[in-house]
Amino acid sequence: MPRTLFVTTALPYANAPFHVGHMMEYIQADIWVRFQRMQGNTVHFVCADDAHGAPIMIAAEKAGKTPQAFVAEIAAGRQQYLDGFHIGFDNWHSTDGAENHELAKEIYLALRRNELIATKTIEQFFDPVKSMFLPDRYIKGECPKCGAKDQYGDSCEVCGAVYSPTELKNPYSTLTGATPVMKSSEHYFVKLSDPRCVAFLEDWTAKVGLQAEVLNKIKEWFAKDEDGHGGLGDWDISRDAPYFGIEIPDAPGKYFYVWLDAPIGYLASLKNYCGKAGLDFDALMADPATEQYHFIGKDITYFHTLFWPAMLHFSGRKTPTNVFVHGFITVKEEKMSKSRGTGISPLKYLELGMNAEWLRYYIAAKLNAKVEDIDFNPDDFVARVNSDLVGKYINIASRAAGFLVKQFGGRMGDTTGELDTIVATVRGQKNDVAALFDQREFAKALRLVMELADKVNGYYDSAEPWKLAKQGPAELARLQRVCSNVIECFRLLTIYLSPVVPALSIDAQKFLKVGPLRWSDADTDLVAAGHTIGAYTHLMQRVDPQQLEALFAPAVVELPPPGGEPLAAEIKIDDFAKVDLRIAKIVNAELVEGSTKLLRLTLDVGEGRTRNVFSGIQSAYTPADLIGKHTVVVANLAPRKMKFGLSEGMVLAASHADEKAQPGLFVLEPHAGAVPGMRVR
Ligand code: 2FM
Ligand code: ZN
Repeated sequence: MPRTLFVTTALPYANAPFHVGHMMEYIQADIWVRFQRMQGNTVHFVCADDAHGAPIMIAAEKAGKTPQAFVAEIAAGRQQYLDGFHIGFDNWHSTDGAENHELAKEIYLALRRNELIATKTIEQFFDPVKSMFLPDRYIKGECPKCGAKDQYGDSCEVCGAVYSPTELKNPYSTLTGATPVMKSSEHYFVKLSDPRCVAFLEDWTAKVGLQAEVLNKIKEWFAKDEDGHGGLGDWDISRDAPYFGIEIPDAPGKYFYVWLDAPIGYLASLKNYCGKAGLDFDALMADPATEQYHFIGKDITYFHTLFWPAMLHFSGRKTPTNVFVHGFITVKEEKMSKSRGTGISPLKYLELGMNAEWLRYYIAAKLNAKVEDIDFNPDDFVARVNSDLVGKYINIASRAAGFLVKQFGGRMGDTTGELDTIVATVRGQKNDVAALFDQREFAKALRLVMELADKVNGYYDSAEPWKLAKQGPAELARLQRVCSNVIECFRLLTIYLSPVVPALSIDAQKFLKVGPLRWSDADTDLVAAGHTIGAYTHLMQRVDPQQLEALFAPAVVELPPPGGEPLAAEIKIDDFAKVDLRIAKIVNAELVEGSTKLLRLTLDVGEGRTRNVFSGIQSAYTPADLIGKHTVVVANLAPRKMKFGLSEGMVLAASHADEKAQPGLFVLEPHAGAVPGMRVR
């Protein structure tokens, strides 16, 4: 019986482009989805941008955009990654979409009807300048333990102490620098500590088949100490305006915390998709047979295995069939930061002309069903792709196709014969490979497929077709049989690899003149049909290690020249010594009649007399700004006769070459203590 599956990946925050961590999750889920589809199952595979929350609101404000425009710009950049890496989502939506506003309110109201919403007044840091409650990440101060400056509100990077933001000494808002004040406000909570919730979650988490590591974490989260403290606490789901989010019904000025409406975005994206595809969303989700799976990273397990199933259950909805948690991807063993990503840029990978399916294959070859981190290692990448994918699998087709096409017009021959059990061997693993894909044991599945490829290559070698080709008609029949066997094996291996390398699979199908392939096609014999294959053209290039070097080469950023102009030609110290710079005191400054640019300065350069200098700084200074100040003057510049009188020197000032790009003119002033006549060197 074909199944109906609703599958999601975590909704990425709409404040940055994808990094390789996102791509790993999408590749993992996409492989699983493609596998399920090849089984004949119907899969609705959706994602969306996670649009709400304070960080996005603040980032938008900094960029001078509305949050909606800011988020839309990020969303516009998504497709190139998804297409580029062959990620086949049915839909991409946004948590700020109408469906999500509606569903979030519906779910909240259902929880309220179920008496699972409570309010409590809590005290929090408030930025008096921005008039806004401060999320912890925007508060810094001195560590209460070691006194280190500029530490975040949760822990100290210097001594490792863990504390709450209110314990910081001399706290300040990183948004405005203001000292935050404590302010109270009413917050809305989901009563997770309600015995009904606890009972439901204990039951749900035990029965869905969560991964062992996830179950261990959950045990910790449920645990209470001897005094009965700990366990599930109520969940604060409201934030005060200003906030980019969904307004809470009957609570003016209060918004849902982003993590309330984010997972609801899964349903919203599915609903949006149903609208476009002519499917009945309510019927689909009311059908007990519809299975629901979420692929997520280990850092957001809590939200998905506690809050999310509880929200769904107590609003009368279907709960997840399972949640599949994966670890992180490191690059050359370096930990990646959520905001900065890692040493691999997915777009650069594509721009360098690297094959997306190399990465899909490599990631699959490392993934298992555990919550383990995987590492991208460049040498390993080259080895896996070149020796396994190309050297073993592609090699099979390229070897056998030549004889078959040249000598037999591509026509597959009879494969029966005692010696030719190779097809049965490869076909015999059909269910084992399938089971491994289904269990997300991709590394094991690929290992099995490559073992089979080894056997096929071994069969080909021991049959020595190059010798058969040179002998009589009986041997020619044998040659056709050997090559047909090998091509049939190639077709079976193509079925097994299709979820991982879908584009390569399509090219292979074109060459084989078959398709679209389903898993059940492994049962039927291609050869029996007297099938004719197409001409072989090379299916996949090997990785050039230089491409990886290019991938890891630091980006060459073309900086504009400093100050808008290139440096002047190099000089020797003697050249510099020719310029006699002296400290001068501006004893007087006045406007110059008839000039809008110049100021007349009277300078004391310590010579027992004053000098008259005209300076083109009227646009930036009034005389009063300057009188009594010290500055630097070129004291040995030849006096210049100007329309307004003699100028005996030049005052130093800084400006950008392109006044429009960076306006401003700044007269130099020495540190306190310098006196007229001192030389600057
Ligand atoms: O951690 C994150 O990147 C979140 N934006 C994931 C949200 S998943 C779901 F709940 F929407
Ligand atoms: Zn400290």
